[in-house]
Amino acid sequence: MAKLYLGIETSCDETAAAVVADGRRVLSSKLLSQIELHGQFGGVVPEVAARKHLETVNLVIEDALTAAGVAPVELDGIAFTAGPGLVGTLLAGMSAAKSYAWAFDRPLIAVDHLLSHVCANYLDTDLEPPFIALLVSGGHTQIVHFEDYRTGKILGQTLDDAAGEAYDKVARLLGLGYPGGPAIDQLAQAGNPRAFNFPEGVVSGYDFSFSGLKTAVLRCVQKLGQPLPAADLAASFQEAVTKVLVKKTLQACVQLNARRLVLAGGVAANITLREKFLSMSPVPVYCPQVALCTDNAAMVAAAAFFCGVPVGLEASVYSRQC
Ligand code: KG4
Ligand code: ZN
Repeated sequence: MAKLYLGIETSCDETAAAVVADGRRVLSSKLLSQIELHGQFGGVVPEVAARKHLETVNLVIEDALTAAGVAPVELDGIAFTAGPGLVGTLLAGMSAAKSYAWAFDRPLIAVDHLLSHVCANYLDTDLEPPFIALLVSGGHTQIVHFEDYRTGKILGQTLDDAAGEAYDKVARLLGLGYPGGPAIDQLAQAGNPRAFNFPEGVVSGYDFSFSGLKTAVLRCVQKLGQPLPAADLAASFQEAVTKVLVKKTLQACVQLNARRLVLAGGVAANITLREKFLSMSPVPVYCPQVALCTDNAAMVAAAAFFCGVPVGLEASVYSRQC
């Protein structure tokens, strides 16, 4: 009998629910994006996001269960994102998960958001640890060595801005919308990556720094004035970010003799980053399909299957467990 998990994700601005069988097979994955709601503010407004999740989370869960053809009593566990994320939005997802767990007497599983991004790579693949993961999201940038499903050793991380955060800030400088990553990604395809020579951030080991790069783009934009060569700026910025991400991750792979490389998080949707890894990596590269790179609930259900331990109904978003 397949093990069925319901995942619920509300860490930021996507209300998502999914049902996954054996951590690999997506039976349904539903998502309600709040991008339009926050677009007018140029970024996520936490209180507005939390209220919207409260309004929609039960509907999205029902939608996911119906699409999967699974009744709540058939579930082996109900998993929610416990953090990191916005406290108010996390609470909305956790409360919904607890209600279902209590009402249908099902195990409740608290899942770490970063680990669940990595677990997106188990969906529709036969991937198994050990591997090196590059986790690049809006809040984190880390190179992690996973020896088994649950434990990852952080080899390096950003000392300031996350890669996704740098994308979002530079997009704002270029007058592109929110979220900035996909907009820069698209625009960069029409630009010259060698038009401007932006610094990649000089930090030793496997750590990163993106704040200097962001400032360099700002200075350049101020000097150039309007109209900006936006496509060239986007392509040159993207070249600097992806170059250092690829260089350090491949160094880690070689040094640790890794047999597989895994990309995870919203920035893993980036066309140029994926192409670079696929063409340069000496070991097989796994990256989730684009829709499963950014926040979704299928990855939460996968994480529950591979790494989750049931928690009591007293679980809180302040003490994350997985
Ligand atoms: O993982 P995610 O959905 O949420 C967090 O956990 O942070 O990542 C969102 C981040 C945003 O900064 C967004 O701009 C970036 O991922 N992103 C991209 C692309 N798609 C999303 N960055 C670069 N290229 C993309 N195609
Ligand atoms: Zn995320």
